Amino acid sequence: MSKIKVAVVGCGAISKKRHIPEYAANPNVELVGFCDLILERAEGYAQQHGGRAYTSYEEMLKVEKPDAVSVCTPNVLHAPYAIAAANAGAHVLVEKPMATNEADALAMIEAARKNSVFLMVGQNQRLMPPHQKAKEILQSGKMGKVLSFRTSFGHGGPEGWSMDGRDSWFFRKEDAIMGAMGDLGVHKSDLIRWLLDDEVAEVAAFVSTLHKAGTDVDDNATCVLRMKSGIIGTLVASWTYYKGGDNSTILWCENGAMHIGTHPLDQVIVQLRDGSVEKYQVGAMATNEKQVSSGIMDAFVESIVTNTPPSISGEEGLKSLAVILAAFESQDSKKVVSLS
Ligand SMILES: NC(=O)c1ccc[n+]([C@@H]2O[C@H](COP(=O)([O-])OP(=O)(O)OC[C@H]3O[C@@H](n4cnc5c(N)ncnc54)[C@H](O)[C@@H]3O)[C@@H](O)[C@H]2O)c1
Repeated sequence: MSKIKVAVVGCGAISKKRHIPEYAANPNVELVGFCDLILERAEGYAQQHGGRAYTSYEEMLKVEKPDAVSVCTPNVLHAPYAIAAANAGAHVLVEKPMATNEADALAMIEAARKNSVFLMVGQNQRLMPPHQKAKEILQSGKMGKVLSFRTSFGHGGPEGWSMDGRDSWFFRKEDAIMGAMGDLGVHKSDLIRWLLDDEVAEVAAFVSTLHKAGTDVDDNATCVLRMKSGIIGTLVASWTYYKGGDNSTILWCENGAMHIGTHPLDQVIVQLRDGSVEKYQVGAMATNEKQVSSGIMDAFVESIVTNTPPSISGEEGLKSLAVILAAFESQDSKKVVSLS
């Protein structure tokens, strides 16, 4: 079988740390094009992996005619770039948040459908080993019903992550639209929907900019969620955990509690009401500093190779995005927002 020709647009931190190395390690992939506004960023990868460097995305699509594209640009470009790729006949892997509003997300789903290509969203929390283990334990029935939860994701902010540091697009509202909620909150709305196999029905939220100077995107949010089944819990996103970064979830259930990502070595800890404790060492939770393979690129390529729609689809990405958009609406209206 001939290799899948993959092009990457946006050669920043997530491309460097995850997309490009994971594609390069996949035997079914040929990296054919790299595009960034800063040509040297793209050129470095072309020299390393073959393929050509571009500053014009349209030109890259036209010249390379890729089978698949990873969209790793600032948030506002996700929708137009994903739609352009689909219209050029390429499968699309778009980073999270898939879009910055529902209309754009729907247009992306429609573009993929119309062009018979796959649309997958980089919601990688689902594939992390501790989360996979947690879901397996929940499905075993051991915990009984989940009653309440707390899920949170916080670090010191994108200045310590983005290629452009403190000058990053992450802090510019016109490029990012959302701050910590689009960066981290959407990971947790996606995780909780997937873990609980449930949908968010209602959202109440406080979303604020507390400490990042010179930006009007949010750097902290605390949300209260009610799931369709009635489960209630909190979702927290923060860019001001300068110490004590956190990517953890606790589920309180009929038969005990499950702690996910609260301990560095025992990534899943189950405490049952009979006093027994089970500790699972299943592999680290990825953090900005401690990168582990996301599995997202392999899953995307596998979808293409086997012609099987990706499970982390555009529809899934939209549902997780809708929770975050509802949180902003709740903050603005000071009301509880229902999701249809
Ligand atoms: N899945 C995850 O865990 C995860 C983690 C981090 C970032 N992300 C997402 O990945 C996306 C990119 O984030 P990042 O951390 O790589 O940011 P970054 O700031 O490190 O890099 C962004 C890159 O895009 C380039 N760029 C900007 N406009 C462009 C354009 N019009 N055409 C081509 N290139 C352009 C910039 O020059 C820069 O090199 C964001 O949507 C972010 O939310 C996902």
